[in-house]
Amino acid sequence: MNTIKTREEIEIMRRGGKILGGMLTELRDMCKIGLDIWELEEKFIQQCKKSDAIPACKGYTSMGFMPPFPTGLCISVNEQSVHCFPIKGRKLKDGDLITADTVITYKGLNVDAAFTVGVGKVSSSDTRLMKAAKRALLESIDQVKNGVRVGKISNKMHKVVTEYGFDVLRDYAGHGIGKEMHDFPEIPCYGNASDGPFLKSGMTICIEALVCEGKPKINYKSEWETEMADKKNFVQYEHTVLVTDNGYEIITDFEV
Ligand code: MF3
Ligand code: CO
Repeated sequence: MNTIKTREEIEIMRRGGKILGGMLTELRDMCKIGLDIWELEEKFIQQCKKSDAIPACKGYTSMGFMPPFPTGLCISVNEQSVHCFPIKGRKLKDGDLITADTVITYKGLNVDAAFTVGVGKVSSSDTRLMKAAKRALLESIDQVKNGVRVGKISNKMHKVVTEYGFDVLRDYAGHGIGKEMHDFPEIPCYGNASDGPFLKSGMTICIEALVCEGKPKINYKSEWETEMADKKNFVQYEHTVLVTDNGYEIITDFEV
């Protein structure tokens, strides 16, 4: 159950969200041609130590049946999709799209966010792909309010993305968050506006724009790692959001 957060819990998540936002901004600035993506992982582990935060993905075993996730960051490049590992020796190349997705636990509460950024000279179609996904995230977040159904978020997300001629993943979704990284409700990237559970003030949710250039089918490279079956690009933007009486507050404090 996604518990309604207390005032104190919300305050802690705000502080966690500020910390995570600062971390991701710093990591994004490092994403230049020639960077070994393992340096992002090393930097993130240092950032966590400095901020008294736990890298929550590292060692995470989804529902106990997945092998422990090996790293603090999920890093995907180009056709790689969700939950890929940063690999030592993989260097960023001109025109790559890199996604960093991560969760920190701060004083017992989780916050989760993700960005994609282009490296060097990015093609106009990749620029459009990122723009579509950012707009899809922000416009679907804009649906959030006490009493609204989750389907309104999902429906808006899909609508914006398809207007650009791109598509959304079907096999992964956003989620509630709090003491648990993955909590009720599930927030798909597509669906009917009149479907799904109702949002309530004080819930904290992660809205994830999981957007693909081509067909949404994914292949598994390992228990965790995925890639787009058609080898076209994948991008992701994610925020942790607090539901309020009149709307929402973005908890993960950075600009996607
Ligand atoms: N935003 C990702 C998700 O909700 C974060 C995954 S962390 C991992 O799935 F440990 F599950 F990889
Ligand atoms: Co998430």
